[in-house]
Amino acid sequence: MHIKKVYGLIFSVAMAAIFALSGFSLEPSTASTHQTASEPINSASELLAQSRFGTFKLPPLPYEYDALDEFIDTQTMTLHHDKHHAGYVKNLNKAISSYPSLRRLSIEDILRDLDRIPEDIQSTVRKNGGGHANHSMFWEIMTPDSSGEPTGDIAKAINDTFGDFATFQEEFNTAGKKRFGSGWAWLVMNKDGSLEVTSTGNQDSPFMQGQYPIMGNDVWEHAYYLKYQNKRGDYLDAWWNVLNWDEINNRLDDAQSWVKEIS
Ligand SMILES: [Fe+2]
Repeated sequence: MHIKKVYGLIFSVAMAAIFALSGFSLEPSTASTHQTASEPINSASELLAQSRFGTFKLPPLPYEYDALDEFIDTQTMTLHHDKHHAGYVKNLNKAISSYPSLRRLSIEDILRDLDRIPEDIQSTVRKNGGGHANHSMFWEIMTPDSSGEPTGDIAKAINDTFGDFATFQEEFNTAGKKRFGSGWAWLVMNKDGSLEVTSTGNQDSPFMQGQYPIMGNDVWEHAYYLKYQNKRGDYLDAWWNVLNWDEINNRLDDAQSWVKEIS
């Protein structure tokens, strides 16, 4: 088993225990120990550790801002990552700063148990925690070196579920086009291991609905308007040119592990 997966499994069990054994204290604290998104960004492994056991950090883009420029322009990538995502991280950290116990939870665990988040910060955590989780996935599943067509297990899973890749693309793009206002189009795994195309509004995450997000496209106007203006469909079509199918396969693997874990 991959070391990252072993780590994640151990972590999930530990976090479940924290919830179950009431280490998850909802007592607010007046201490101001949280860090902000403007502080230095460290290595990927440090980011992972800090985001799981400390305050949340803005992960760096895994490529240059102009790497996807043919399909997603440099200015959009810069503003999207450095302003929009950074804002979600900053607001999330500010919200949880009064509840130190929340800093022991991963963002996935927070989103899965949103009802247990204190009422006075629940809406803020929903918007900004969802935004942080969604965008952290979004950067990782894109690459300037896309293989174009799906590869490996995800290719088989798509064919098994939707018949072929073209049918899946059409269903996914339709979900993105039909999302009124801001939101996301998703390929998710359900608790029974089945795949499904869905859509969420605003920054809601499939984790909130008991699903595992395998891949998702951001259909907020901030993701495409500078290059595509009102033509969301053109953006949805272009996005397939920048997908990192290796990373999407990793997420499929993680989703399958999650299904085994909860079964
Ligand atoms: Fe976005």
